[in-house]
Amino acid sequence: MAPRKIRPGVYSVGAIDWDRRLFDSLIPLPLGTSYNAYVVQGDNKTALIDTVEPSLVKDLLGNLDELGIKKLDYIVCHHAEQDHSGSIPAVLARFPGAKVVTNQKCMDLLASHLRVSPSDCEIITDGAVLDLGGKSLQFMFAPWVHWPETMFSFLREEKILFTCDFFGSHFATGTLYADDEHHVYLSAKRYYAEIMMPFRQKYPAYLQKVDALGPEIIAPSHGPIYRRPAFILDAYKDWTSDKVKNEALIGYVSMHGSTKVMVDRLVDRLVADGVNVKQFDLATVDIGELAMALVDAATLVLATPTVLAGPHPAAVYAAYLTGAIRPKLRHAVIIGSQAWGGKTVDILKSMLASLKLEMFDPLMSKGLPTDEDLAAVDKLAEAIKSRHAALE
Ligand code: FEO
Repeated sequence: MAPRKIRPGVYSVGAIDWDRRLFDSLIPLPLGTSYNAYVVQGDNKTALIDTVEPSLVKDLLGNLDELGIKKLDYIVCHHAEQDHSGSIPAVLARFPGAKVVTNQKCMDLLASHLRVSPSDCEIITDGAVLDLGGKSLQFMFAPWVHWPETMFSFLREEKILFTCDFFGSHFATGTLYADDEHHVYLSAKRYYAEIMMPFRQKYPAYLQKVDALGPEIIAPSHGPIYRRPAFILDAYKDWTSDKVKNEALIGYVSMHGSTKVMVDRLVDRLVADGVNVKQFDLATVDIGELAMALVDAATLVLATPTVLAGPHPAAVYAAYLTGAIRPKLRHAVIIGSQAWGGKTVDILKSMLASLKLEMFDPLMSKGLPTDEDLAAVDKLAEAIKSRHAALE
């Protein structure tokens, strides 16, 4: 993608990865992604803000050539993860003498991951200002958006906030700006759920700082740029708040239909009771969809048959993922079926224990659910409904 002007002397020069479908060998990317990098040209100095995934470094270097950049003074590195930092060695090779401007933690990570030499780095502190001549970048440390070294920078004269992963979206689009807010919202929420949610308790303070800066543009390093920052700020305030919604996420897997009978009954009763249900077959689910549903849900229902004395591996994966991304769930329950016994409930409960949820009594049928089992499902639906009513 050719360089695109954002403001005088400020360009988007990153790369779009239209075809990538998996990130970190883990996260589905149904709409691809982008690795945004930016050039800021002052009267005296030129800075590159972040780089791109190494496989697309030719796009970045081609954009710098197209802008006629002969000398690069600084490479600002907000985050050491390789999708943003991985091309630093190639950029340094092309522009010898450029300094990597970053914090101490990030430099240590660049040294260990990419063998960037500390002698090529200039270490800045929180709040420091880099003067480019008529343009200046102020740094703001923001640990854990996504790693411990992450930070933002604020181009004070143009009121552009560069946030790297924070506010990003895995959304490959030729459109520079996030004006199609409906589609960007879904991609940004998916991104938040997968990448940011484990650290959400840190974010209200960061959101306050961003509000205080009053940016006119927020430029993340994935997905389109926000020229109406309130859109993404409001979304993050909602997602990171302590409020849960009247939603039950039902993740199920069924081998011979018994567990599905219980799930169908539960969904039927919950919907009749006005509970918003999001149901996923864990054998085929896109885990990004599951993570998105966990952003708002008050209750998690994990439904599984017993396989080799324990839960189905698809249910184990869902429980592990839920524990890892730390949603603001309040309640959970394990239901399912077994033929002769096993430790299904104990295993799944232990995987969710760190979330400190209220666990409803488990329901495990022996083979096909009996009328008594289904009556117990009805009672579970009533309990979920009443807990959700108390949320209002
Ligand atoms: Fe887009 Fe944490 O890297």
